[in-house]
Amino acid sequence: MIISFENKVALVTGAASGLGLATAQAFAASGASVALADWNGDAVEAAAADLTAQGYKAIAIRCDVADDAQVEAMVAKTVETFGRLDAAYNNAGVQNVLAETADTTREDYDRVMGVNLRGEWSCMKFELQQMRKQGSGAIVNCSSLGGLVGGAERGIYHAAKHGVLGFTKSAALEYGTRGIRVNAICPGLIWTPMADQMVTEGQGDALKAMEKMIPMGRVGRPEEIANAVLWLCSDAASYVTGQSISVDGGFVMR
Ligand SMILES: NC(=O)c1ccc[n+]([C@@H]2O[C@H](COP(=O)([O-])OP(=O)(O)OC[C@H]3O[C@@H](n4cnc5c(N)ncnc54)[C@H](O)[C@@H]3O)[C@@H](O)[C@H]2O)c1
Repeated sequence: MIISFENKVALVTGAASGLGLATAQAFAASGASVALADWNGDAVEAAAADLTAQGYKAIAIRCDVADDAQVEAMVAKTVETFGRLDAAYNNAGVQNVLAETADTTREDYDRVMGVNLRGEWSCMKFELQQMRKQGSGAIVNCSSLGGLVGGAERGIYHAAKHGVLGFTKSAALEYGTRGIRVNAICPGLIWTPMADQMVTEGQGDALKAMEKMIPMGRVGRPEEIANAVLWLCSDAASYVTGQSISVDGGFVMR
């Protein structure tokens, strides 16, 4: 099975780092023209410049996915530059401040939901407007193992990631007969700057304990998420929609 995105256009949010960066690189290497979007403008410019220096077609877009107007402009810029939108990986996300539910704040709730849930909704909304016009497209939303199970002191993050699956299934139902597939990916523990940040914030022991519970005995690599996203966006997954695919070394099987 050869997965090629020659003559296709892909959009990745949170593309300056970690899973988004690895997925943007994989789309480019598979022949796609890639729009890399991130709220970290300098980092996303550097990521796109690195791809164009290697001869790939890429643009950088500064975008905060929590801002609808910026999301609408992000999709418009992608279409204006490359002419269409075939694949979108809605990946941008943030962690909540660790706190048991009684101690969580409205501020943190709004911050995390604004990016991890409303941001996914907003990206889907504007991507689907374009894909609906084309009568084709594939979207992958980034949930988490946190979209499938609970997490003490992580309720806001887990609630948002559960919500992503609800939007994914609902949109899959709406667009199944119109050439558009919508799926979600549920990464387990993957080594990225987000995981580094958790170690910096004193969660290193918790991550080590979590690693011991992974049936495959190791943390995942960003490319392993990218491979699954590319497969879901490709014609090789032409009969797959509304699914949440766990890429977690078997973690949620317990
Ligand atoms: N790393 C893991 O173990 C893991 C596990 C499960 C799910 N996830 C999910 O995968 C996704 C990517 O995580 P990662 O580990 O690569 O994290 P990361 O912190 O390395 O990368 C996240 C990227 O998203 C960008 N971003 C954050 N908020 C944004 C916003 N409002 N608008 C635009 N860009 C924004 C950041 O600037 C960064 O470049 C997230 O949705 C995360 O919840 C990660």
